[in-house]
Amino acid sequence: MHTSRHVFVHLIRSVALLAILCATAVQAAEKRDLIIDTDPGADDVVALLLALASPEELNVMAITTVAGNVRIDKTSRNARLAREWAGREEVPVYAGAGRPLVRTPIYAENIHGKEGLPGVEVHEPKKGLAEGNAVQYLVETLRNAAPHSITIAMLGPQTNLALALVQAPEITQGIKEVVVMGGAHFNGGNITPVAEFNLYADPDAAKVVLASGVKLTYVPLDVTHKILTSDQRLKQIEALNNQAGKRVGSILNEYVKADMVHYGLPGGPVHDASVIAWLLKPELFSGRQVNLVIDSREGPGFGQTVADWYDTLGQNKNVFWVENGDAQGFFDLLTQRLGRLK
Ligand code: BDR
Ligand code: CA
Repeated sequence: MHTSRHVFVHLIRSVALLAILCATAVQAAEKRDLIIDTDPGADDVVALLLALASPEELNVMAITTVAGNVRIDKTSRNARLAREWAGREEVPVYAGAGRPLVRTPIYAENIHGKEGLPGVEVHEPKKGLAEGNAVQYLVETLRNAAPHSITIAMLGPQTNLALALVQAPEITQGIKEVVVMGGAHFNGGNITPVAEFNLYADPDAAKVVLASGVKLTYVPLDVTHKILTSDQRLKQIEALNNQAGKRVGSILNEYVKADMVHYGLPGGPVHDASVIAWLLKPELFSGRQVNLVIDSREGPGFGQTVADWYDTLGQNKNVFWVENGDAQGFFDLLTQRLGRLK
């Protein structure tokens, strides 16, 4: 009798231990290995803070920088500033391409200010860049990665990944998926009537990434222009009463002004942060698989993304196109995560 009770207790303990081990394994499996390729940029900095404040879900392996909103020296400094503000200096920052594949460089200083970061004082961060180049880092990391294990968030022109893919096409083996902030279909463009800035800045690079056949999600203006700031949403961030809340509040206050005036909107979009929110809480968003074509011909369609939302042409569905998002859910997530920072 005594022995059978002993065996029973032992069995229960073993089952409980197994359950704990399984839960831990599932949690570990759910943590995403992530490289963030970015051109900070006000909304890029908000995206970086959101990602770096979410270590349970995201293992940010590196930040790679590209010229876009401002020149590469400034985007690289701003990425290092975001890392410092998040207290995550162990994450390496690699500088990458200083210009697009083919076209003449363009910048967005009119929106992001001369330093690429409106509303706050910028300074040289304590920690420098990692040794080596972003493109080389991508090639080596993806080439040696476990099959389809690494996610890449692309928050600027897609030049770095395109260069890596041209140099070493086999690196697709290491890519789980690529999530792009870019493009516009229903919304219209923000740099021309039809083109969104990141695609217009380097459409040739975006075409290389598209042609590589990697799993692709686009988070275009169609959705980011539905996730707008408001006085109440900015107040909720500022009310955190930490430095992160104050910084993001004043960055966004300044950043959204131009878009609010230009589009007559009641608030402004925080484009790039939606990519990170999509990775953290995809249930906040909806979209569908579509065929995407990118126009890189000179003329009024330069940089346009043609997304076949209604499958009119019946072509292969090469991209998941995010079309809608829960704006309050996004700002609640952002506020909650910023609350974890200093
Ligand atoms: C995109 O362009 C940049 O100015 C922003 O950082 C964002 O990545 C929006 O069109
Ligand atoms: Ca950006």
